[in-house]
Amino acid sequence: MSFNLLKGKKGIIFGALDANSIAWKTAETIHAEGGTFVLTNAPIAMRMGQIDELAKKTGSEIVPADATSEEDLDNLVSKSMEILGGKIDFVLHAIGMSVNVRKGRAYVDEKYDFTTKGWDVSALSFHKVMQSLYKADAMNEWGSIVALTYMAAQRTFPDYNDMADNKAYLESVARSFGYFFGKEKKVRVNTISQSPTPTTAGQGVKGFDNFISYADKMSPLGNATAQDCADYTVTLFSDLTRKVTMQNLFHDGGFSNTGVSQEVIDRFSE
Ligand code: NAI
Repeated sequence: MSFNLLKGKKGIIFGALDANSIAWKTAETIHAEGGTFVLTNAPIAMRMGQIDELAKKTGSEIVPADATSEEDLDNLVSKSMEILGGKIDFVLHAIGMSVNVRKGRAYVDEKYDFTTKGWDVSALSFHKVMQSLYKADAMNEWGSIVALTYMAAQRTFPDYNDMADNKAYLESVARSFGYFFGKEKKVRVNTISQSPTPTTAGQGVKGFDNFISYADKMSPLGNATAQDCADYTVTLFSDLTRKVTMQNLFHDGGFSNTGVSQEVIDRFSE
């Protein structure tokens, strides 16, 4: 179902690696809603991923950028304006990676080089993206910037490891930068706190399969899928949400406000 909500809008989408990626589904949905965009990912991810296929499908160009490199980001912003023929209306930051998680280091045994790298990729990169857009005056008025986050920023999930701290930082950057972007350029900045979703990044979390079914049973509406997240993101990029900014928006089927569900109680009485 398409409503043409993004007709004439132009954007940049970070983080589409393969067809499971939340950014991939979002790109397809934005395309169906009439938006045009540049796709970007880290050069190394492009070799592993299938982003060419998505570009072909959506009539998009790809501009590689490591989201930790200011130089790459400045180049991405100026190339995107050239390709799209003007300023940007929407940006999706869908980037996350913990080196500690990848290397099997527990939260109480962090290797701090790994911590710093993961924080740079997953959290500081959001500031870098916005600073690059801000300094180039690349956003149109009433534009919208969204990053994806997870509820481990507010509550502890032991196996989420240092990504919990990265997400807390990311959400804070959305509020802080959202103030300046709102005041100076009438641009809104929000984070969507998404249900666990079976993607490459998601499945990196230890015990993910049990965790995702627990979340599903704890959520009155069930887990939000990647496609649900894509649909929600489209609303935040549309003109229907122009005064929503500096928010962390839970998109999790009700999980974050549920103390316990009947299904979980029943498990304990078996
Ligand atoms: P994904 O693995 O498909 O996407 C992660 C992306 O980050 C990949 O495209 C990867 O290439 C990119 N990336 C890594 N390092 C980069 C760098 N230096 N520069 C540019 N891009 C880089 O996984 P998913 O789940 O679609 O992740 C998207 C976002 O959603 C992440 O922020 C993740 O933390 C968040 N999220 C995911 C949930 C899940 O359960 N899958 C739940 C809540 C939030």
